[in-house]
Amino acid sequence: MRQSIALREELFEALDAEARPLQISRRVFLQLTAAGALASLLPGCQVFQAILDAIRNRRVRKDISTLSASDPDLVTFKSAIAMMKALPSGNTRNWLSQANIHANFCPHGNWLFLPWHRAYLYRFEEICRELTGSTTFALPYWNWTKNPQIPAVFFDTTSPLYDSARAAGPSSTISTSFTGQPVIDGIMAQGNFLLFGSGSISASAGQRTPSSYGPLEGNPHNAVHGFVGGDMGAVSLSPRDPIFWTHHNMIERIWVDWNMKRGNPNTNDSAWTQRRFTEFYDRAGNPVSFTVSEMALYPLLTYKYDDLP
Ligand code: C2O
Repeated sequence: MRQSIALREELFEALDAEARPLQISRRVFLQLTAAGALASLLPGCQVFQAILDAIRNRRVRKDISTLSASDPDLVTFKSAIAMMKALPSGNTRNWLSQANIHANFCPHGNWLFLPWHRAYLYRFEEICRELTGSTTFALPYWNWTKNPQIPAVFFDTTSPLYDSARAAGPSSTISTSFTGQPVIDGIMAQGNFLLFGSGSISASAGQRTPSSYGPLEGNPHNAVHGFVGGDMGAVSLSPRDPIFWTHHNMIERIWVDWNMKRGNPNTNDSAWTQRRFTEFYDRAGNPVSFTVSEMALYPLLTYKYDDLP
C-alpha cells in the first residue's frame, strides 16, 4: 500500500510535468485508469508502475530521412505494408480496408481532424507491429519543413513504399509558403486550440460536419496532399500512398510539439473530449471504441518524437 502511494505521487509528478496541456487532470486520469481505458495500452501488473514504465519507455518516432536502408523501423514499415497488401480483401487489416476507413469516416475542416488522424496512425502502427512481430517499431515521419522534397525511399520502384500515381517527382520541391519554418512558427504561436485545431462542431453533429480549417490543417496539411498528388491528392483515397502515413505523422508531431513542448492546452469542451470513434480496428483486426480524451494519452504513454524533449 505504502509503495502504491509513493508510485502514485511519482506518477502525479510525471503527469503534472507532461500531461497538463493534454487536459488530462488527475481526476480524469484516475477515471480512465479505473474504467480500464488504459488496459489496451499497457501490459498488466501494478497499474501505477505500468503507467510510469510506459511514460519512460515510449518508443521513438523518427525522421525518415535519418534512417539508413537497414534501419529496423524502415525495414518494418516496408514489410508491414507488403503484408497488409497480401491479406485477403475482406480482412480489416488489409491495405485497402485500412484506406477505406479514411474514405468512409475521416473528419476534415473541424476539430475532430487532429484526434481522428492521431487514432488512425496509432492503430495502423499497432497493426504494423503485430503483423511483423517488431515490438519496437515506431512509425517514421516526413519532416517537410526540413526536407521539402519527397524522401528518396518513396521512389524506389521495387519497394512497397512506391506509388506510381504521384504527380510530384523526386526533385519536385514544395514551396516554403506552405511548409517553411515561418509557417510553422505562425501555427505554433496560435495558443487557442479552437483556432489551432480547426473549428468546433456540436456533440450531436455528424463527425464529418464542416466547420472551418485551422492553420495546420488548412495550410501545410492540405498543401502537401495537393503537392504529392495522385492518391494523395484525393482526400478519400490518400492512405493508399504510403507517404500519407509519414505526412500525417508530421502533423501529429506538430500537435505534440504544440501541447507538450510549448505547453498549449487542448480544449476541455465535452463535445470534443467525449466524442467517440468506433470505426477503427486493433492490432488483431477487431473493432475498437474509444473517446478523444482516451486518445490524448497516446503521446504520453506510447510514443514520442526523436527531436522533441
Ligand atoms: Cu484525412 Cu491528410 O487526410
